[in-house]
Amino acid sequence: MKTLNVNGESRQVDVADGTPLLWVIRENLAMTGTKFGCGEGLCGACTVHVNGVAVRSCQTSIDALEDGAKITTIEGLHPTNEHPLQLAWIEEQVPQCGYCQSGQIMQAAELLEINPSPTRAEIVEHMSGNLCRCMTYDRIVRAIEKAAG
Ligand code: FES
Ligand code: FES
Repeated sequence: MKTLNVNGESRQVDVADGTPLLWVIRENLAMTGTKFGCGEGLCGACTVHVNGVAVRSCQTSIDALEDGAKITTIEGLHPTNEHPLQLAWIEEQVPQCGYCQSGQIMQAAELLEINPSPTRAEIVEHMSGNLCRCMTYDRIVRAIEKAAG
C-alpha cells in the first residue's frame, strides 16, 4: 500500500511492486488524461509531474516513489483548467488528434516553472523529447511563447 498526493488529494494505492505510475494513474485512479504512447520512455505522452519534476510515468515504477510523493497530472494542473498554457493552447488551436497534448502541456509547465521567460531555443530544447505524430510543433512553441508572455 502506498499513499500518494495526487492533484492535491491523498490517495492510497495497492498495486504490485514495479507497477508503472502511468498504470496507477489510469487504471487505479481512473484519470485518463495522461496517455499511453510508446510505453518505453520515448514519446512523452505519459508526462506528469512528480514533486514538481516532469517525468515519464510509463517508466516511473511505483516503488521509486516515496510515501506522500506529490503527483500532478493534466487534471490537476489548474483547478479550473485555466493555466496560462491551457489558455494559450486554446488560443493557438494547438491540438490536432490531441493524443500527445497532455504530455506536451505538462512538459511545458515544468519549463515555465523553472524558466518563466524562455527563449525560443530554450523552448525547443525543453520540448524536444515530446513527440507529436500530427506535427503540431510550431503551434506548441507559439503557445508556450504566448503563455510565457
Ligand atoms: S508512453 Fe511514456 S514516454 Fe511514451
Ligand atoms: S496532436 Fe496528434 S499526436 Fe500530437
